[in-house]
Amino acid sequence: MISRLKIAMVASECYPFAKVGGLADVVSGLARALYAAGHDVIIILPRYAAIDAEKYGLRPFISPLGVWMGDTQEWCATQTASYGGIPVYFIEFERYFGRPGLYNDPEFHDYRDNPRRFGFFTRAALQLCRDMGFAPDIVHAHDWQTALAPAYLKIWHWDDPVLGGAASVLTIHNLAHQGRYPVDDYAYLGLQPGNFTADKFEEFGGINMLKGGLYYADLATTVSPTYARETRTPHGADGFAPFLVRKGASYLGIVNGVDYELWNPASDHYLPSHFSPQAIAGKAEVKLALQRRVSLEVNPNIPLVGVVSRLVGQKGLDLLAGSIEAIVRDMAVQFVILGAGEKGLEWYFGPLPGRYPGRIGSYIGYNEELAHWIVAGSDFFLMPSYFEPCGLNQIYALKYGTLPIVRATGGLDDTVRQYDEASGAGTGFKFFEPSARSVYYTVGWAVSTYYDRKPHLRQMIATAMGEDFSWAHQARDYLGAYAQAMANKRRL
Ligand code: ADP
Ligand code: GLC
Repeated sequence: MISRLKIAMVASECYPFAKVGGLADVVSGLARALYAAGHDVIIILPRYAAIDAEKYGLRPFISPLGVWMGDTQEWCATQTASYGGIPVYFIEFERYFGRPGLYNDPEFHDYRDNPRRFGFFTRAALQLCRDMGFAPDIVHAHDWQTALAPAYLKIWHWDDPVLGGAASVLTIHNLAHQGRYPVDDYAYLGLQPGNFTADKFEEFGGINMLKGGLYYADLATTVSPTYARETRTPHGADGFAPFLVRKGASYLGIVNGVDYELWNPASDHYLPSHFSPQAIAGKAEVKLALQRRVSLEVNPNIPLVGVVSRLVGQKGLDLLAGSIEAIVRDMAVQFVILGAGEKGLEWYFGPLPGRYPGRIGSYIGYNEELAHWIVAGSDFFLMPSYFEPCGLNQIYALKYGTLPIVRATGGLDDTVRQYDEASGAGTGFKFFEPSARSVYYTVGWAVSTYYDRKPHLRQMIATAMGEDFSWAHQARDYLGAYAQAMANKRRL
């Protein structure tokens, strides 16, 4: 067993401070579990304008902080707050983070200076560790935004008295985002001309930040074993497979955990009623309250399918758009959809309730409370993703006895067990072909189970609620990965 480790989590999102998707939940959940296990954890985030300084008690910390970017020295400030005892540090730099979005403007256009913003943030995070004398055993970076941390450690801090002992772990949450940018910013990023090669940062004449980070990382992980396997195959990783294959045993999949303090039907403070496997009645009450809230017909005996999702291509909601009207025409079922993202999907799902009053409810936007209500009050939870590195909502749904209907890909395949009509075993309904027809038939399979095989439905709900994906458990796998990274560490 590893003794007490010093771990610096460097990330672009962390719940509750700044969240776009599951990355935020993973960073905070993992940090909390490591802290609870007695490790010395710090979290470093950008000080986005959207972070509510008053609510989270942000206080000024080291200032000024000088950060070398190429041959420019940028001067920024830092702030700090505590998250349940874990010190959180924020890199404050108006030019890069004093704007409304994390990654994009309100029209969903990526900020053009994103490579500079996150390269700078990552370098500043390491500089902050130096200035405050925090000598990490592990620097844990997440996705392309902080993928340069392993590279900076090896290029600039190998002999550093504070950072020289750090091994690096890079967790890939989604290969659809690799940090691919024109070459113009390469000098600013300070990665040295000699490293602009096809095995490191260069890709078709541009920069690939994730690829370079992966090269330098002492260990790389992704968020489920199946996604780790899929991404090693030629079609599974958007051109990235050879670089993942090259990592050999130093690229592995660890399924995300869930913070059951935040996602627990017995204590969830967002919910109007509570429930547990022993006292399930409260679930029906949440369902009725949910139906009322989103203007569905209030009826305990009609199955309700919930969706909470970023409305982006990966999530396969075009497959739902291609089947939902046939489903509500042919089956006695209701839908509630919560999401925001691409305009085409927003324009389709937003007005849909007007055409199917009482049968379909939708809310376009981001709403944490409604997300909890849908996860808790629905009978089924649909995720028809084309690919899904892990996915968290289906894991939350299991705990609330809301049976997932998922495409068998990535983490969806690893966390949901297929229903067996002979025995009633399993926790959900999986399909393989990414098509509207598969969504139609698999929702039909769930709906027919709801009406015709009630004992199986009850059995599956009980099995689902008993599944354990707690961070306490998953964090042990990360500690194993940290040990492996420390053993791997060598100069490149
Ligand atoms: P991803 O990170 O790809 O979006 P995950 O399933 O890992 O997918 O995580 C999604 C997280 O974001 C969940 O916590 C989910 O509840 C939340 N979420 C997504 N869209 C919304 C929304 N519109 N309103 C509230 N929460 C949302
Ligand atoms: C990414 C993936 C999602 C995963 C999340 C947290 O956003 O799309 O599948 O659950 O990261 O790891």
